[in-house]
Amino acid sequence: MRILLTGATGQVGGELLQTLRPLGEVIAPARGEMDLANAPSVREMIRAVRPRWIVNPAAYTAVDKAESEPELAYAINAEAVGVMGQEAQAIGAGVIHFSTDYVFDGSGSAPYRETDATSPVSVYGASKLAGERALAESGAGHMIFRTSWVYGARGKNFLLTILKLARERETLRVVADQYGAPTWSRDLARMTAEVIGQCEAKARNGEIAGVLADTGGVCHAAGTGETTWYGFALEAVRLQQEREPNARFAEIEAITTAEYPTPAKRPANSRMNCGRLMERFGWKMMDWRDSLREVLAEL
Ligand SMILES: NC(=O)c1ccc[n+]([C@@H]2O[C@H](COP(=O)([O-])OP(=O)(O)OC[C@H]3O[C@@H](n4cnc5c(N)ncnc54)[C@H](OP(=O)(O)O)[C@@H]3O)[C@@H](O)[C@H]2O)c1
Repeated sequence: MRILLTGATGQVGGELLQTLRPLGEVIAPARGEMDLANAPSVREMIRAVRPRWIVNPAAYTAVDKAESEPELAYAINAEAVGVMGQEAQAIGAGVIHFSTDYVFDGSGSAPYRETDATSPVSVYGASKLAGERALAESGAGHMIFRTSWVYGARGKNFLLTILKLARERETLRVVADQYGAPTWSRDLARMTAEVIGQCEAKARNGEIAGVLADTGGVCHAAGTGETTWYGFALEAVRLQQEREPNARFAEIEAITTAEYPTPAKRPANSRMNCGRLMERFGWKMMDWRDSLREVLAEL
């Protein structure tokens, strides 16, 4: 079984490279071989590889920069995803795509369900929503995992930034009025491999598109539990202090979103209800505090 994996240099892609290997032959072209900003190169690669699965964690993820580069964000996060869908549809491949809590405006007070209305407040969020729609409209069998606050032991993420700054500074001011759940990149990658395995078991070497027509679509997949960026930073520094009793870390101070203006707006409520993932695939995402301990142990 051939799996075409994008974004293998990213947080989730790097983990997928490991978790997908036992399932088949993973082909993970570098950006130079398949540039998502260049739709024809995406088409050519899929036609050359003819995968059974396309797994697409690659994305334009610079949330603030996207406000000043909307064309590039849309090309990578929407157009390229539409092309993947069209090509997958033509060869009967399944597409696993990743999206974001930022498709919501964050005004709701309950964890978001897959059926809730979307209303992105940033270019990044809007481009990711456009990607979801392009994939759905392509007619390909697909799965869209909406996740949030992704972090791990490698890559560019909030945890690693906070730990670095906490060593360098006396005080760190962190936003305490955005609620969500940190999600471990490896947990997402393990879940993805499990879902592909379950779909393959149902397909029994037959059409994967039919299986995805029944069980596919949007599925929320974020860490269990909830916190704020402030709560995440506080817990990370507390646990790291336990690991390094003699080290000096910054004091963490809670601030409001208004006190930390950024080019892109962020939803105040990023919490997601992951019940569908449990119902369809029996998978419960790790509690963010448990995964945080595992990630810190790896650093
Ligand atoms: N990070 C989060 O907090 C978060 C939250 C919610 C949802 N998500 C979604 O989760 C998925 C995985 O995110 P992540 O944190 O793993 O992202 P990441 O670490 O920023 O990695 C992004 C990957 O995309 C690749 N990429 C970017 N532009 C490309 C292009 N033009 N052509 C080919 N490859 C390109 C990057 O390659 P290079 O190494 O060459 O740049 C990198 O491998 C994304 O769909 C993202 O939207 C992320």
